[in-house]
Amino acid sequence: MATVGKVIKCKAAVAWEANKPLVIEEIEVDVPHTNEIRIKIMATGVCHTDLYHLFEGKPKDGFPVVLGHEGAGIVESVGPGVTEFLPGDTVIPLFLSQCGECRFCQSPKTNQCEKGWTNSRYDVMSCEDTRFTCKGQKVLQFMGTSTFSQYTVVNQIAVAKVDPSAPLHKVCLLGCGVCTGFGAAVNTAKVEPGSTCAVFGLGAVGLAAVMGCHTAGAKRIIAVDVNSEKFVKAKVFGATDFVNPNDHSEPISQVLSKMTNGGVDFSLECVGNVGVMRNALESCIKGWGVSVLVGWTDMHDVAMRPIQLIAGRTWKGSLFGGFKSKDGVPQMVKAYLDKKVKLDEFITHNMPLESVNDAIDLMKHGKCIRTILSLE
Ligand SMILES: NC(=O)c1ccc[n+]([C@@H]2O[C@H](COP(=O)([O-])OP(=O)(O)OC[C@H]3O[C@@H](n4cnc5c(N)ncnc54)[C@H](O)[C@@H]3O)[C@@H](O)[C@H]2O)c1
Ligand SMILES: [Zn+2]
Ligand SMILES: [Zn+2]
Repeated sequence: MATVGKVIKCKAAVAWEANKPLVIEEIEVDVPHTNEIRIKIMATGVCHTDLYHLFEGKPKDGFPVVLGHEGAGIVESVGPGVTEFLPGDTVIPLFLSQCGECRFCQSPKTNQCEKGWTNSRYDVMSCEDTRFTCKGQKVLQFMGTSTFSQYTVVNQIAVAKVDPSAPLHKVCLLGCGVCTGFGAAVNTAKVEPGSTCAVFGLGAVGLAAVMGCHTAGAKRIIAVDVNSEKFVKAKVFGATDFVNPNDHSEPISQVLSKMTNGGVDFSLECVGNVGVMRNALESCIKGWGVSVLVGWTDMHDVAMRPIQLIAGRTWKGSLFGGFKSKDGVPQMVKAYLDKKVKLDEFITHNMPLESVNDAIDLMKHGKCIRTILSLE
C-alpha cells in the first residue's frame, strides 16, 4: 500500500477541551512502532464512557484527545516485531489489553492485564504515549484506541483478529458495550438458570446485560430505567418486567423486594451512578444475592450499610464483562455470526464521522441506543 512506512494524514474528531463539541480535524498518524499495528477504522459506536470523559470525568490532563473505543477496521500496516497480524486482517481494537504473559493474564480469575493504560492511567483514561499530532500538538489516544479517527495505532496486545466475513458496522459494538453488558451477566454475575435478575439502566450496556441474563436462563428479568422509552427494546432482549423508579414513591429496592418476595438473585448496575449502585445492591435478596457494578465512574465514593453484605450479599465489579479481551472478542464475533447473540437490535442510528456531535447529543438526551459512525 502507498501509505506503508509513511505518516498518514486523515480525518479525526478531536476533543480539544472538556464540555465542548468535538472538531473534525486533519491529524497526522505516525507509522506503527515496535509491536504496534496501524488500523484503518471503518466503523465505530459511541459509548457512554466517551461522554463520561468529555462531560463528567473531565480530567485536567486528559485533553486534547481523540475519543472512541468501540471500533472495527482493517490492518493497514504493522511495525517491527509484529507476528500475529498482516495488512488486510479484520480487527477490533481493545481498550483492555491481553499480553498473555503478565500475572493477571496468567490467572484464570481475572481479565485485568498489567501492560495497558488501565494499569496506571485511569485518571486520564489514555496511554502515556500517542501516535497522533494535530497542528503541531500531541493528541492523546483515549483508552489506547481512539476510534473516532480514520486511522489509529494500537499495540498488538490490544487488538483482536476477527472473522473477515463479519460486518464491521455491526461487530464494532463488541469492542465495548455488548461484551461489557453480556459478560457482566454471564461471566461476572454468573447468572443461573431459573433465577430472577434486575438490570438498572437500559443503554446498550444494560440491554446487553439483559441479553446475557436471558442467555443464561434467567426466568424473570426486571428492566429498570428512568426513561420508559427504553422498555420496548428491553423486551426484545428478553426482559419480562419493566419498572420506572419515577413511577413509585417508595425506594426502588422496596419495589423490587415486593415484586420478588425479598429481592432478586442478581442485579447489574449499568448507569454509572453511585446512588443507583447502592439501590442495585439493596435490591438483592439476602443470603445469596449478587450485585455487579458495570457503570463507569471514578468521581464519588459509594456507600452501603455493612449489614447488607454481612447478611450474605456479594458486591462485585466488572470491566469489559470479565472477558479476556483478545480471546473473548473473536468468540463473541463468532457467536453473532452463529446467531447466538444479537447486535443489529442495538443500532438505532447510522451517521458519518462528521455527525459525531449529533450522535453525542442523542445519547446525552436518551434518544438512541447505539449510533454507528462510518469512517470510510
Ligand atoms: N465496566 C465497563 O467495562 C464499562 C464499559 C462500557 C461502558 N461502561 C459504562 O456503562 C454505563 C452505561 O453505558 P451506556 O453506553 O449503555 O450508556 P447510556 O447512556 O446509553 O445508558 C444509560 C441508561 O441509564 C439510564 N439511567 C440514568 N439514570 C438512571 C437511574 N437513576 N436509574 C435507572 N436508569 C437510569 C438512562 O436513561 C439510560 O437509558 C456507563 O456508565 C458507561 O460508562 C462500563
Ligand atoms: Zn465503552
Ligand atoms: Zn497481561
